[in-house]
Amino acid sequence: MHKSEKVWLTISFGMIMLFMIATGYQAFALGMAPPGGMETIDPQRVDQIAPFDNPGITKIGEKEYEVVMTLQLFSFTPMNVEVPAGSTVHFRLTSKDVVHGFQIVNTNVNGMIMPGYITDITQTFHEPGEYLVLCNEYCGVGHQFMATTITVK
Ligand code: CUA
Repeated sequence: MHKSEKVWLTISFGMIMLFMIATGYQAFALGMAPPGGMETIDPQRVDQIAPFDNPGITKIGEKEYEVVMTLQLFSFTPMNVEVPAGSTVHFRLTSKDVVHGFQIVNTNVNGMIMPGYITDITQTFHEPGEYLVLCNEYCGVGHQFMATTITVK
């Protein structure tokens, strides 16, 4: 084997090891796994199971809110969430039918909301404004209309 061939093989193998270690470290040590604890829920009975039997916004602390939200063809419940600037919002999300997306435009929030699973996402809204929330998983004929806003005042 040519010497430079060995060098490049060593470099590429080293890079693969490095990426695997970095990914493993992020996933396990830093807890950067997909959001939510993979909690399950019966998607047929979401309306009857707490807290999703009463979706809405609850103040749980100083500038801290919990938003329980269901996603369904082709809407978010509740619509038009409103919080003061600087609030930390803990979203608890599930789908009542098919896979939907929960993307808050101009933030890092971008979740896949699957029927049968509860997803927890926390976001702090520092800047006042209207935050557009989009479904970014194709979910049917009304997909492009599935949107809402979060108002930060
Ligand atoms: Cu819901 Cu696309």
